[in-house]
This record gives sequence, structure tokens and C-alpha cells, in this order.
Amino acid sequence: MIAARALAKHYRDNNRQVTVFDDLDLECAAGDYLALMGTSGAGKTSLLQLLGCLDRPDAGEYRLDGELVSALDEEALAHIRNRKIGFVFQTNYFVDYLDLVDNVALPGRYGGRHGDPALRERAVALLTRVGLDHRLHHLPGELSGGERQRAAIARALCNSPGLLLADEPTGNLDEANTERVLAILEELPGANTALIVVTHDRRVAQRADRRLMLRDGHLEEHA
Ligand SMILES: Nc1ncnc2c1ncn2[C@@H]1O[C@H](COP(=O)(O)OP(=O)(O)OP(=O)(O)O)[C@@H](O)[C@H]1O
Ligand SMILES: [Mg+2]
Repeated sequence: MIAARALAKHYRDNNRQVTVFDDLDLECAAGDYLALMGTSGAGKTSLLQLLGCLDRPDAGEYRLDGELVSALDEEALAHIRNRKIGFVFQTNYFVDYLDLVDNVALPGRYGGRHGDPALRERAVALLTRVGLDHRLHHLPGELSGGERQRAAIARALCNSPGLLLADEPTGNLDEANTERVLAILEELPGANTALIVVTHDRRVAQRADRRLMLRDGHLEEHA
């Protein structure tokens, strides 16, 4: 599903070029469950943004489902993002005047399913699966941290992505909510969806099939 070769990512810092990585390889099959670790500043979020087609590599090749996405323009990338990728961030932003059902259905609207009655049903079903059926018509501002994170997962799954990326999804949660969010991330997407979770927490990483440590611009596989 993911084949990334010699990916490079640089940032400009005043007049200096900061290299986050310049020769990074990653393979990930459909249905894989990866934990991505590394110290703060190692480049985990930068890598997730490339894998999620939110950003393009400065060099290297990135293939998603066999398609060379690193060569695509902004519009084509947005299209892929919408159809194939779900994101859960550490802090998730919602449209604060829309209720949860409309927020969760939003990726479907962007994906061209505006006015499709099945879209609302899907949003309600997803919210029910993450335990928020009693919050369907609440506004995002009325949710707790754990509830927001579960709503974010429901939203990320609206278009049934083949790749689900989560950047420290449990970073702000207590133990009970961490367990609940992880269980949902692991179960709800379905067996063919690849899941990549960035985490600082070893116990979270131990649940994954593979653990990758990002260090000095390279990924090391850990037991
Ligand atoms: N927009 C930007 N402009 C300049 N430098 C950036 C930018 N975004 C990230 N960086 C730098 O790139 C490096 C990698 O950042 P990144 O956010 O990917 O790290 P991270 O591993 O996600 O860290 P954390 O665990 O703290 O979230 C850091 O040195 C950071 O300062
Ligand atoms: Mg980060």
C-alpha cells in the first residue's frame, strides 16, 4: 500500500536549510498496524504529512496503492487525501457551529457526496460505534477531550480510508480514555485499512504489529 523511497524533507529556517530526513524508506502493506516513535523533533509529524499527502517530499518517490503520488499536483493530492486517507491529530479541529453528525459527515461532502442521505446515516453509525450516540447533535465545544478524540476517529473514517494516520492520538488522554481510543482505532477501520500511530508511549507502541523508530533521518525497526 505504501512504498516510499529515499524521501527527503527540508525546511527553511531563516536562511538555513534544515534537513529532517533526506533518505527515508518505508514499506507498509494493506492492513498493517505500525507504531512510529522517535524523540521530539525527529520528524514524525513531517513524515505523517508526507504519507498523508498533506505535503510533498523535496526528493524521493512515494507510491500509494501503486500510484506515484509524489509527482501529483495540489489538486490531485487533495483528491487522493479525500478518498484514501483519514487523519487523527493530537488536537483535532472541528467546525464549531456544526453538530457532531455534520462534522463527521464533512469529509463525505468534500468527497462529492453532498446531499447523499446515506452520508448522514454513516455519520450517525460511526458516532454510535465510537460511543457518542448520545452526543449526535452536540457542538464540538461541548465535548470532553476523550469524546473529541473519538469524534475525530469517526470523522477520519467517514470515507472508509485505506490508510489511517494518527499523530499522538492519545497524547492528552488519561489511561481509561487512551484504552478506549486505541481499541476504536484498532477495531473500527476494518482489516484492510493500514494504521500508523505516532506515539511516545511504549505501551501504545507494543500493541502494533511493527514498531519504527525515526532517528537521525532513518527508520529503524524495533522488536
Ligand atoms: N513548518 C516548519 N518550518 C520549519 N521547521 C519546521 C517546520 N515544521 C517542523 N520543523 C522542524 O522539523 C523538525 C521535525 O519536526 P516534526 O514536527 O516533524 O517533529 P516530531 O517528530 O513530530 O516532533 P514532536 O514529537 O515534538 O511532535 C523539527 O526540528 C522542527 O523544528
Ligand atoms: Mg509531531
